[in-house]
Amino acid sequence: MDSILILDFGSQYTQLIARRIREAGVFTEIVPGDMKLMPELLGAHRGVVLSGSPHSVYEADAPRPDPIVYNCPVPVLGICYGAQRMTWDSGGKVQSLPDREYGRRPVKLAKTHALFAGVSESFSSWMSHGDSIEQLGADFSVIAVTDNNIPAAISHNSKALYGVQFHPEVSHCEFGSRILANFVFDICNCKAEWTMQRYIDEESELIRKRVGNNSLLLLISGGVDSTVAGALLLKILPPEKVHLMYIDTGLMRKRETVEVTAILEKLGAKNLHIIDAEKDFLDALHGKSEPEEKRHIIGDMFIQVQEKAVAGLGLADYFLGQGTLYTDLIESGKGVGKKAQVIKSHHNVRSPLVEKKRAEGRIVEPLDRLYKDEVRALGRLLGLPESVVGRHPFPGPGLGVRVLGELSREKCDILRAVDDIFITELRSRGLYDQIWQAFAVLLPVRSVGVAGDVRRYGWTAALRAVSSTDGMTADVHEFSMKDLREISALITNRVPEIGRVVYDISSKPPATIEWE
Ligand code: XMP
Repeated sequence: MDSILILDFGSQYTQLIARRIREAGVFTEIVPGDMKLMPELLGAHRGVVLSGSPHSVYEADAPRPDPIVYNCPVPVLGICYGAQRMTWDSGGKVQSLPDREYGRRPVKLAKTHALFAGVSESFSSWMSHGDSIEQLGADFSVIAVTDNNIPAAISHNSKALYGVQFHPEVSHCEFGSRILANFVFDICNCKAEWTMQRYIDEESELIRKRVGNNSLLLLISGGVDSTVAGALLLKILPPEKVHLMYIDTGLMRKRETVEVTAILEKLGAKNLHIIDAEKDFLDALHGKSEPEEKRHIIGDMFIQVQEKAVAGLGLADYFLGQGTLYTDLIESGKGVGKKAQVIKSHHNVRSPLVEKKRAEGRIVEPLDRLYKDEVRALGRLLGLPESVVGRHPFPGPGLGVRVLGELSREKCDILRAVDDIFITELRSRGLYDQIWQAFAVLLPVRSVGVAGDVRRYGWTAALRAVSSTDGMTADVHEFSMKDLREISALITNRVPEIGRVVYDISSKPPATIEWE
């Protein structure tokens, strides 16, 4: 299958480059920008992209690609830092701009070039850089300029080396997708062969070969990733060899366990192990109100329950399935993009079972080459309902971090009822898919109100709805006041324990998305 190799120098946009190219139907692989490029690696790809970077090429410790890349047999496109790198490494000059250029910037084509086929003479590009090309490298020409005559795109006179100062991968860049498609299809001659069906076929072969006649166990959380992983494994392996385990912590949303069970049964699950551990979790959390302590208790209890339940299955020599995504590998700093930071380690429970199975070489990660949107596409192809594939993220500790302070079964029930009204209303008002994540929080605050003629001393529910791309930053969703008022009224009418509803308008940062 044709693919493009991306050398990652740490830009916030590296993943976006990979996703845009995949959207065009060509597979992408990201590796650390300064890694030694063995001929087998280069030979396996039809083109190379040098990513942007927070560094400046003139810094002593700036990351640099293996020089072989400039003489490799396939075309190379440098984006932002990548273009400056190319310039610097071929004897040109790069200098710091007096002011960083950020946002839309007009670009004019200086000559006809395959990279700009089908692109207007002038267009609005997206820039994000503090340095610019001052003097071209040997044998390079300018093929596009900005409105203040700074090189916006360059091309080597005899080799297939190209550079753009702007970011074609950012959706605000006019003709950005076209420019990337020109590089990938016309310059690198890739065929659009990357489809989810192809992925299923490839994974089927790999996984069948690895697992052989053994059993496979997958823990299902009810989230998109593990459900899609389950659906895929049930399709690939004989269903009687696939064991799916779901631990009901008692901190799940309303109807969650019933729905997950029904979906997995419909997919042909033969060995579905639903572990009811509500009492274990609530007992362990009794009297605890400090958020970090609650998180630890939930994480530890999860491991205990899991170990016991797995031992109870009596499986020998089995493989363990994991719903790891391509971005999880990057975030944990494994394998790809070594400049990427470890971002969410506190979210991932270090399970001894996973570590043991990893040491044995018996982990199967059927989604580990996919981005989240691709996982959703795969889920649809496997016949999962939209209510599963389009579901908002849900944190591992569940309602444990959404009932603030001390937990009880009653409080979880109240929150489940509020959250269900909120989410059902978002769906019926056509708002759910516009929002990245929405949920309710039960505050440990009671306040006075009136119901009929009676004084009521009820709990306070907070609603949270945010827009985001990856959960790292978030903005409040701007509801119409009418929607908020109507949803608030429904909640206080239907859940008598709630006396007051508030809407959280904080962005992240400084707040986080969850309250604990
Ligand atoms: P915060 O609250 O850190 O959340 O802004 C960012 C995103 O991560 C989710 N989240 C978690 N996910 N285990 C998870 O699997 C966790 O412990 C956890 N804590 C937060 C949160 O729901 C949001 O989508």
